[in-house]
Amino acid sequence: MATESVEASGLIRGVEEMRRWSGQHRRAGRRIALVPTMGYLHEGHLSLVDRARDAADLVVMSIFVNPAQFGPDEDLESYPRDLEHDLGLASGRGVDIVFAPSAPDMYPTEQTIWVEPGPVGERFCGTRRPGHFRGVLTVVLKLFEIVRPHVAVFGRKDYQQAFLIRRMVEELAVPVEVDVAPVVREPDGLAMSSRNAYLDPADRDRALSLARAIAAVRDAFATGETSAASLVARGLEVLEAGGAKTDYLEIVRAADLEPVERASDDSVCLVAARVGSTRLIDNGFLGA
Ligand code: PAJ
Repeated sequence: MATESVEASGLIRGVEEMRRWSGQHRRAGRRIALVPTMGYLHEGHLSLVDRARDAADLVVMSIFVNPAQFGPDEDLESYPRDLEHDLGLASGRGVDIVFAPSAPDMYPTEQTIWVEPGPVGERFCGTRRPGHFRGVLTVVLKLFEIVRPHVAVFGRKDYQQAFLIRRMVEELAVPVEVDVAPVVREPDGLAMSSRNAYLDPADRDRALSLARAIAAVRDAFATGETSAASLVARGLEVLEAGGAKTDYLEIVRAADLEPVERASDDSVCLVAARVGSTRLIDNGFLGA
């Protein structure tokens, strides 16, 4: 729970209450930042709160495990949840309001109108998770409409997601500034993720091979290898040797996620792999 020195975050569950709170503060001229999450908070999420506090007067964190972005065979039911614990962490970091709606609050009727992510949304994670990004974009747009933030903060950990959210905001002229924060890692390099909670000790070791594969690609690039095919081969070798099962490992242009034949400082390595039954993603820029 909240530490003594910090005021506890308020908890809002209803959509109308959230709208009222936000409307009042907007009318009073206050700047609102939103940090959308699915909860089970870790330091990666909390780093977004720090940026949000720097960018605004008030910080709203949404905690909502969004059914629309999970496929039928995915982990919606088992996705880790602990709202009490999350409220303590959010308060301790200075979140003003936690907005935690229920699924019927967010989807009171069958959803028939969707934000379609377009061709980039069909690649990488989109290929393996059909419908995932339209679920993400649709809920993010709804959250923007309900919370009406001036700025919203996302993590680069989900590189393709952050890219598509930026694109949605541009193409649909959504009046929200999007800020994207660096990946926060465990001391040994594993990218923090709520899904790391699924990993038993053996899988936790295997999970490190994603960060190691990216490091190997970066090393090869730093010593002069620019062929994307060779860099991918090097990454795959490390990924599989570490006991992960590759979903994809690709080198793309950071600005638009288009494939490249020659890697440059503007390229990013995107990786997704399974360790045991857990699917993890990570990425890293090839340039400094
Ligand atoms: P979730 O996985 O809970 O992540 C919430 C936010 O935290 C995302 O912007 C994600 O990129 C960021 N994040 C997660 N791990 C991070 C890390 N290690 N370092 C930095 N940032 C990290 O992403 C979602 O939820 C959902 O798709 C959501 C956008 C909330 C829509 O439902």
